[in-house]
Amino acid sequence: MGRVFVSRQLPGRAIAILQEAGHAVEVWPGELPPSPGILAARVRGADALLALLTDRIDADLLEQSPRLRVVANMAAGYDNVDPGMAAGAGVWVTNTPGVLAETTADFAFALLLDSGRRVTESANSARAGEWRTWSPGGFLGLDVHGATLGIVGMGEIGQAVARRGLGFGMRVLFCGRPGQTSKAGPPGTEQVSLAELLAASDFVSLHVPLTESTRRLIGARELAAMKRTAFLVNTARGSVVDQDALVKALVTGEIAGAALDVTDPEPLPGGHALYSLPNVVVTPHIASASVATRSRMAEMAAANIVAVLAGEQPPNAVNRPQSPRRLP
Ligand code: DGY
Repeated sequence: MGRVFVSRQLPGRAIAILQEAGHAVEVWPGELPPSPGILAARVRGADALLALLTDRIDADLLEQSPRLRVVANMAAGYDNVDPGMAAGAGVWVTNTPGVLAETTADFAFALLLDSGRRVTESANSARAGEWRTWSPGGFLGLDVHGATLGIVGMGEIGQAVARRGLGFGMRVLFCGRPGQTSKAGPPGTEQVSLAELLAASDFVSLHVPLTESTRRLIGARELAAMKRTAFLVNTARGSVVDQDALVKALVTGEIAGAALDVTDPEPLPGGHALYSLPNVVVTPHIASASVATRSRMAEMAAANIVAVLAGEQPPNAVNRPQSPRRLP
């Protein structure tokens, strides 16, 4: 039936789902993403692309791939492709909402605990042989229970982080994305403005998608508005934060620390200033990386492809082509 290009090896049953639906599947064997040129060459004859957030899908690629009917992103975020541009070219774009919210929230909370209680910093010190005695003043951190958590973005991940915060006995504040009416938070949470949230929170956790209105949402002014004792947690997208301003704020002690699962660019190059700061934890964009969740994300992306190639509307469309491409 269809030809599907999958841009990386995947966990779970995604490939089997595609093959069981009768499709011929080519999987990119590399550990690293195909280069833009190789991606374009492989997608040229394909009916569907199972893409990752590391694959940039632009107008040229769609133009050079006349058979391509769907880009199924294996991620909730889809800032690697412009859904409106794809719709104009007759190509569906799909994502994987829902399945990763709890797993991502677990990880955001892990980063919050890590930064406040200096887990990575103290573990690194112990591993380096620096543990000489129990010290009354060693690695003093910030209590998480009783602290104020500020959640920027009350989507499904923000909601899941809020529930964790309440469970830890935190006061939970939230605000929506700029220019949008926010969903209500779970009972017990308080909606405030971004300015109020920044001024009052001990931990600020970001849960907005990357759009033109959220790019660099947290810049020098916002960092200066945070408490000097506060921590920034980012599991959203690196470009939501002005990273140079963040480095400055961390170096000058304008905020106490940061825990970042996402950076700008990714990967963050070796030797970057963020790696040398003791009050920073950087992880390699793994917030959704549990065996179960990554398998389900891949399987959802495969199911979206199966639907489109069967002439149906995909269950997780993020755009709606006026004239979807048909088989030539
Ligand atoms: C997403 O889904 O957008 C995450 O960043 C990757 O899990």
